[in-house]
Amino acid sequence: MRPLDPFMQSLGLKYPIFQGGMAWVADGRLAAAVSNAGGLGIIGAGHASGEVVEGEIKRARALTDRPFGVNVMLLSPHVDDVVKVILSAHDSITVVTTGAGDPSKYLPEFKAANIKVIPVVGSVALAKRMARVGADAVVAEGMESGGHIGKLTTMALVPQVVDAINIPVIAAGGIGDGRGLAAAFMLGAIGGQMGTRFLVATESKVHPTYKEAVLKAKDIDTMITGEFAGHPARVLKNPMAKRFVRLEKTEAAKADPDFSEVEEIGNGALRNAVLTGDRENGAYMAGQVAGMVRQAQPAAEILADVYQQATQLMGGV
Ligand SMILES: Cc1cc2nc3c(=O)[nH]c(=O)nc-3n(C[C@H](O)[C@H](O)[C@H](O)COP(=O)(O)O)c2cc1C
Repeated sequence: MRPLDPFMQSLGLKYPIFQGGMAWVADGRLAAAVSNAGGLGIIGAGHASGEVVEGEIKRARALTDRPFGVNVMLLSPHVDDVVKVILSAHDSITVVTTGAGDPSKYLPEFKAANIKVIPVVGSVALAKRMARVGADAVVAEGMESGGHIGKLTTMALVPQVVDAINIPVIAAGGIGDGRGLAAAFMLGAIGGQMGTRFLVATESKVHPTYKEAVLKAKDIDTMITGEFAGHPARVLKNPMAKRFVRLEKTEAAKADPDFSEVEEIGNGALRNAVLTGDRENGAYMAGQVAGMVRQAQPAAEILADVYQQATQLMGGV
C-alpha cells in the first residue's frame, strides 16, 4: 500500500479511514474505539443538545488519547450551542466534519481554534465553495450511503470533486470492505469514510433489532424517504419507511402540499430505531452496502480487515 497521504498523517492516523459521524449512533464510545485502533472516530452531534455533545466529547477523551472528531449537523436547532461546545473543547478535538449544508459561517472560528474542518459534500459546486472558503479537506459522499443523501453516486461524484478542487478528498458512500477503499483511492481520494459497516460494530449502541436488520439486509433492501418532503435519507425498508413514503406521496399530490405532519412522524425516528429497535416507528438508516455487512465485529477488527484487503488489492499500485 502506498504510504499514508500527508494530510492523513497530519491527523495522526494509522489507517486512512474515517468512521462517519452518525446522529444518535456515533457516541464517544464508538468514536474512541475507532480512534484507539488507528482510524478517525467521529462523534455524531446530530440533533443533540450542546450539553449532550459535551458529555460525549468528555467520554471519548476519557477513553482515548488519540485524535477524534465531531460531526456537526447543520440542520440541528442546537447547532450554535454545539459549535460553542466544540470551540471550548478545542484541545480535545482534531477535526470537525459537517453534514447537511454549508458550514462557511463557522469556519473562521474553527480554524482559529486549530480544528481542521472537513465538510461533507454531495456536489462539485459545494466542494468548490468549501475549498474557496478555506476548508482543509472534503468528504465527497455518494447517494449509496446511509442517512441524508445527495443525488450523485460515489463513483461519479468523487473523481469530479477531485478534479475540481486542490484540497484532499475523502470518499464516502458504498465503502463496505477493502475493495471499496481501494476503489476510493483509484477515484483520487486519499481515504474513505464508512458509516453502515460501523453500525454493527461491537462498540456501537445501535439496538440489536436494528443491527440484525442490517446484518440480514440484501442488496435491494434500502429505500429513500423524504424525497418529496425534502431532506432525502436512505433507510432500510421497514413498516415505518413505507408508511412515511406513502404519506409524503399523498401529500405531494395535493395542490398545496403541507409536509409538516409527515415531518412530525420522521422527527425522532432515527433515535427511536437506535434506542428501542422499533420497526413500526423507527428509521433504520443504512446504506446500500448493508447487503454485504455480514458480521458484527469490534471496530479495530473492521479497520484492520478493510485496510488489509485494500493493501492486498493495491499491492502493485
Ligand atoms: C444511521 C446513520 C446516521 C448518519 N448520520 C449522519 C450525520 O448526522 N451527519 C453526517 O454528516 N452524516 C451522517 N451519516 C452518514 C455517515 O457519516 C457516512 O458518511 C455514510 O454512512 C457513509 O456511507 P455508507 O453508509 O455507505 O458507509 C449517517 C449515516 C448513517 C448510516
